[in-house]
Amino acid sequence: MSWDFSMLDLRLTDIARIHYSVRLDVITLFPELVAVPMGTSIMRRAQQKQAIQLGVHDLRQFGLGKHRQVDDTPCGGGQGMLLRPEPLFAALESVATEASRIILTSPAGRRFDQATAHRLSGEEHLIFISGHYEGVDQRVIDHWVDEELSLGDYVLTNGAIAAVVMMDAIVRLLPGVLGDEMSAVEESFGTTGLLEAPQYTKPAEFQGLSVPDVLLGGNHAMISKWRASQSLERTRRMRPDLLQKKTSSSDQQSSDAGSAVAG
Ligand SMILES: C[S@@+](CC[C@H](N)C(=O)[O-])C[C@H]1O[C@@H](n2cnc3c(N)ncnc32)[C@H](O)[C@@H]1O
Repeated sequence: MSWDFSMLDLRLTDIARIHYSVRLDVITLFPELVAVPMGTSIMRRAQQKQAIQLGVHDLRQFGLGKHRQVDDTPCGGGQGMLLRPEPLFAALESVATEASRIILTSPAGRRFDQATAHRLSGEEHLIFISGHYEGVDQRVIDHWVDEELSLGDYVLTNGAIAAVVMMDAIVRLLPGVLGDEMSAVEESFGTTGLLEAPQYTKPAEFQGLSVPDVLLGGNHAMISKWRASQSLERTRRMRPDLLQKKTSSSDQQSSDAGSAVAG
């Protein structure tokens, strides 16, 4: 028997919603730093559409004793305070499952980028640990953490901000999250690996500043050509490192292909 798929009244976004839903849990001393950005705009819509389920866990609830202590001084001396292992272990025990991938936000981690966002958007369950003060006891990392990720070479006061940035980049890649007004396909670091071309909206002329003619002419082939060349030019000017990365990865691919043929 052959299927007539047109009989099924399912739109692609509905199918996506059925199959792609990511559970996100954040362990933090500052739930409000997560709740507001994740409860706003597209992140809020992603939850309403059930593309994600978000859990925000207040580390203080797992603190020790009457004062719910979560931190202590570093062994061996040194500045500042560290997050103690017991509250973090208890918090992780309460949310982690076999399917969890546990991420520590940390300036010592590998740099978070668009490729990492794509990879993590395919996971079933992500848990973000947000550090505070001088960071977390190493035993938490050794026992629980699958990967440490950094936003860049600078130090933030708190990991919740980093977790929100990472979650935003991941969630917008999930099918059905972005509406028709946005697209995660043709944008910077997308399929071409380049920056997006400059963009304009109406009016065509404003205070003597004009939109390039080609964008107003309606010739889609010309517009695509213009965008491709502008994207290349803008990348060359603003992020030449991206072009270098592209060249070295294609050199690597041709050398791999050459070895395969020779072998
Ligand atoms: C003040 S920082 C700790 C810095 C740590 N003592 C060090 O020198 O590496 C407190 C927390 O903020 C988060 N954080 C700071 N900078 C970050 C970055 N660049 N990327 C991701 N998370 C960061 C981490 O969760 C970290 O544990």
